[in-house]
Amino acid sequence: MAKRKTTTDSQTAWGILDECPVLHVSWIDAEGRPDVRALHGARVGDAIYLHGAPVGEKNGALDRPVTLVGHAVVARIPSHFVEPERACPATTWYRSVHVRGVLRLETDADRRAAGLQALMQALQPEGGYRPIRADDPLYRAGLRKMLVARVDVQAISGKVTLGQHQPARVPPVLAGLWRRGEPDDLRAIEAIRAACRPPAAALPEALRPHRPDQGPAASLHVHPTAADRDAALALLYPAYWNQHLPAEVVARGFDGAPAWIGARDPDGRLVATASAMSDGRRGWISDVIVDPAWRGRGLGAAVMRALLDHPRLRRCVAVGLRTRDGQGFYRRLGFGGPSERPFPISEMWLNRPA
Ligand SMILES: CC(C)(COP(=O)(O)OP(=O)(O)OC[C@H]1O[C@@H](n2cnc3c(N)ncnc32)[C@H](O)[C@@H]1OP(=O)(O)O)[C@@H](O)C(=O)NCCC(=O)NCCS
Repeated sequence: MAKRKTTTDSQTAWGILDECPVLHVSWIDAEGRPDVRALHGARVGDAIYLHGAPVGEKNGALDRPVTLVGHAVVARIPSHFVEPERACPATTWYRSVHVRGVLRLETDADRRAAGLQALMQALQPEGGYRPIRADDPLYRAGLRKMLVARVDVQAISGKVTLGQHQPARVPPVLAGLWRRGEPDDLRAIEAIRAACRPPAAALPEALRPHRPDQGPAASLHVHPTAADRDAALALLYPAYWNQHLPAEVVARGFDGAPAWIGARDPDGRLVATASAMSDGRRGWISDVIVDPAWRGRGLGAAVMRALLDHPRLRRCVAVGLRTRDGQGFYRRLGFGGPSERPFPISEMWLNRPA
């Protein structure tokens, strides 16, 4: 892993800003005192829009130079991920953005509405409201009363500190995150891999590509991108256990599963997916499927082994599944049946229309 710099180009910096719903805005007020506020901010073109009450503290910042900082912690890294005793390695890996500009009152009605609409898009991307327009009677009066200000950006820079500056720390940090396994840790594993491109040997053992000697190796992943989700659902909709379910129910099952492992081919296309539910005591595996072109090369077994080592399943005392014709495949992975319990038991289900 080559050492890579942590400062970014301005396009990446704007991307980081888009991921930070709250920005810290600082200025020097009329009395010469420094002031700082945490505010929602959103970009429209090359400006950043802020809003507030008409007689708020931000008024004191109008027409003054301002500095904005946005910060998103990607991974909390305790010292013991890296060293057993010394406290010094404790840190966070993060993305941040730093902006210099001048704060101006936005007076143009359409641009005020566009600024607030951009803020809504950041805060409520799912919709569920009438889009803000200057000529809409629902918003016209409120828009007139509200303070809408814009930062005319003079300089923007970003910083990405995800281990690319400390390649020797990447393997123990990835191993620590996989071991700790909180939901944000899985997302962090993928962010660090994307930033550092570590070789397979630097990954936690369960996530290394399987049987790379048998043709191109697929990489194993623990948090799906939007493209992974689309490709996984395309594999899953026609599967015999989902065929009778509406597409949105299959998608809800994919999105709701707390444990997921996917495999991507060397071009980054998803070619296998497996999900599981778990309460930490018992787990339930569902939706295991390998793209037909990749079957018979050990990928299904690799995905399953990674899933069984997933933090949500790792300590379960029993992991179950149902299959029509995959008994041989699962038996090789240690599954047997029926479950052994020290008392007679019936399985009961309440079935509801999908
Ligand atoms: C079942 C499935 C996930 C296996 O994936 P795969 O990548 O082809 O499996 P692998 O290559 O990792 O096979 C691992 C081992 O299981 C064996 N195996 C694979 N599928 C099997 C099956 N259906 N029955 C018995 N053994 C099977 C393989 O021969 C291999 O044995 P080996 O280790 O001795 O060589 C894949 O065939 C698939 O997606 N099937 C359709 C969907 C499905 O049935 N899912 C399971 C429903 S619960």
